[in-house]
Amino acid sequence: MRIGHLRVNHLSEPMGFDLCSPSFSWIVSDSASVRPEAARLRVFREDECIYDTGVSDRLDPLGTELPLALEPRTRYHWQIRVRGDRGDCSEGESFFETGKMGEAWQGTWISPGEKRGAILEKRFALGEEPRAGRIYLTGLGLYRLFINGEAASDEVLTPGLNAYDRWVQVQTFDVGRLLKKGENRLEIWLAGGISRGRFSYTQADDYEYCPYDCAIAELHVYASGGETVIATDGSWTWRTSPILESSIYDGETWDLNREAESGNVHLCTPPVGPLRDRLSPPVKIVEERKPLRLIKTPRGETVLDMGQNMVGWLSFRVRAPRGKTLRLRYGEQLEKGCFSQANLRTAKAAFEWRSDGSEHLAEPFFTWYGFRYVLLEGFEAPIELEDFTGCVVSSALEEIGSIVTGHEGLNRLIENVRWSQRGNFLDVPTDCPQRDEREGWTGDAQVFADTACYNMDCAAFFTKYLADMWEEQTKAGGCVPYVVPFARNRSRGFEGGAVGWGDAAAVIPWTVWLHYGDRSLLRRQLPNMRSWMEWVASQPDWPTACRHFGDWLALDRPEEPAERVGKTDVGFLCLCYAYYSAELTARAALVLRERELVRKAQALAGVYKRKLQKEHFTPEGELLCPTQTACVLALHFRLAPDPEKTRELLCALVREAGHLTTGFLGTPWLLEELPEDAAWELMLREEYPSWLYEVKLGATTVWERWNSLTEEGCFSETGMNSLNHYAYGSVAAWLYGRMCGVRPLPETPGFRRFRWRPAPDRRAGWARCRLRSPMGEIRSEWRYTEDGLSLELTVPFGSEAEAFLPDGQEMTLGPGEHRFLLSERKKEETP
Ligand code: BGC
Repeated sequence: MRIGHLRVNHLSEPMGFDLCSPSFSWIVSDSASVRPEAARLRVFREDECIYDTGVSDRLDPLGTELPLALEPRTRYHWQIRVRGDRGDCSEGESFFETGKMGEAWQGTWISPGEKRGAILEKRFALGEEPRAGRIYLTGLGLYRLFINGEAASDEVLTPGLNAYDRWVQVQTFDVGRLLKKGENRLEIWLAGGISRGRFSYTQADDYEYCPYDCAIAELHVYASGGETVIATDGSWTWRTSPILESSIYDGETWDLNREAESGNVHLCTPPVGPLRDRLSPPVKIVEERKPLRLIKTPRGETVLDMGQNMVGWLSFRVRAPRGKTLRLRYGEQLEKGCFSQANLRTAKAAFEWRSDGSEHLAEPFFTWYGFRYVLLEGFEAPIELEDFTGCVVSSALEEIGSIVTGHEGLNRLIENVRWSQRGNFLDVPTDCPQRDEREGWTGDAQVFADTACYNMDCAAFFTKYLADMWEEQTKAGGCVPYVVPFARNRSRGFEGGAVGWGDAAAVIPWTVWLHYGDRSLLRRQLPNMRSWMEWVASQPDWPTACRHFGDWLALDRPEEPAERVGKTDVGFLCLCYAYYSAELTARAALVLRERELVRKAQALAGVYKRKLQKEHFTPEGELLCPTQTACVLALHFRLAPDPEKTRELLCALVREAGHLTTGFLGTPWLLEELPEDAAWELMLREEYPSWLYEVKLGATTVWERWNSLTEEGCFSETGMNSLNHYAYGSVAAWLYGRMCGVRPLPETPGFRRFRWRPAPDRRAGWARCRLRSPMGEIRSEWRYTEDGLSLELTVPFGSEAEAFLPDGQEMTLGPGEHRFLLSERKKEETP
């Protein structure tokens, strides 16, 4: 037996995270047993055991909450011991370390005042060799910390994007290795980042949480002679950095000859919320890629092709004479063979470097780009590809799911979805990474959440997003803004309450529960669900009182091609989603034994259902708004009075159109609600509109629109056209859940017991999925062979599968490997 994947609040060895209610999880594998018989969890502070569950058969490997009284800035070790039902046992060990936990700060906020592009600096001497060092700090908008000239962490874009007016996240870094006896230097580089400037979907230039850059820090150095604290105060100084300009949308300008200025810092009180220990998983460079080739375009441009639409930046070796300017411009597509930024709207997406003649490794510090192509200007020939490195930047989440099939197009689509998730899971689940938006659009995140939770371990990532959502909801009486955190522009008030977008408050917590099965997460998020449901209930005129996006970008209004809101009636959508969110809230409340809320939510759901059936169906059960999306939602939410009739209508609509016409809201569940044959037909279709159409045209990420590019590879529209938008990638949940058949069940979330109902198709040849579920590794594979259809499933320790085979057999499968060969109807089993 082995015990691995030890996590606290779904984080590995967290340091300085918000752990006020720690939840412990682990995975047992390689065991002779099939389920745990008993376990014991102990928590230690140094050698003292501060908590012992004793030997118990009730410890939940998906989330065991312990009522620990934790101290700030303290390291704890924990140990989990499990004994299986066949007597084998094992032990796993890990640690976590608390942050400041709300204790008073010795440091104060300091700022270079009006000066942009500054470095806050402190020099200090240590009398002896340090044993350990921790720094607790944050900065606004974005900061990077260097100690004695070295980066203090591999995290980038700290402190991340959140509702700064409600809370600012503090990071904790282990910096002992960077400190030394004698002179030391702390440097905090600052830029406006996402706390001021031009940021938000309105493109207005008056976005502001804090009008100036600032930081607060506290360094604790431990040596044999005791503890020394170096904190931000009036003794710090500032000096100019080479960063002349920095903007999320436009990029960065570095001038290595910038006139040096310096001064004393100001103490300040930024107009932001309280400092709190972080929730955000780190954002890092998760992969480095070399450019594929260098292109000379018909226009004579020099362009690097990364071979993959990616998010992050290029770092490059600068060899240029003093005064020379090197310019990079980032784009997603070549149009007619030439570099194009046509779809970036007002975003300049550039990087400029004014050389001082010496050699440097150049890269932007406080922005990111969504790109495949990079236009180089000012570079002297010969250009060496070796000098350039593509840095792929993302929230560093564990990639837990993968699928490979015998169909090349499907494999590329699956990779495209993964790339779009990587690029847009950048502390916040953003709509797109390249144009002048890059915000946490709630609807996009909601429709993609199921897929996201299969691909990567998103528990901690969504916990942070939902914490921000909650902060926004408390300001707006429970209503959910269009984007979270809400882009704060001085000239604009709150905007939110859109159907299918605001419902992220209910759908995401439920999806996280379904996939990871940790009750503490559901409890944390129940207020989001409840207050959204109550806000909706308080809006009798919801369909008309708010701006809705409806079934965004659906294709069912061919007569009005400019109209982005699909044809599905918004009143219908409002009732559908009001019902769905109330229903999910009722289910969550039931899990958490909140009886009063169960009753209230069920009653509301009942009201919406009756109203919807009365107003949007005929007495014979016919849908009055016959669109594909209306059918899908009525079926998926179990709202159709006569489901068979609605399913027939859906099939007829797909047949009539000859393809899908769904937008953001209908697409995620379209295939699931169609009979298998019809679903496969749409899945494998390569003509427009379909998922594989863009694959055929060479897409390496998921597009915003079904036709973002024309057959000639030009943008079909430049007003709103991202080539990296994950919403339609939500189809991957069908590939995991139906094609490979692995689906979590709401009664036994976190794959304690899951459904295995693969839907094979000869045209794909074979399919294999691996999912490192919270219970352990699930493997599902099917393959057409000469002898028939072979199927395999691996069920992890402690779990169980409800199997539904394509030939109609049904059974329960326990831990171990299971094989079936269907033509012979023979099962060979190796437990
Ligand atoms: C974003 C979307 C978003 C939408 C709201 C767009 O500009 O890119 O993905 O959900 O606005 O309809």
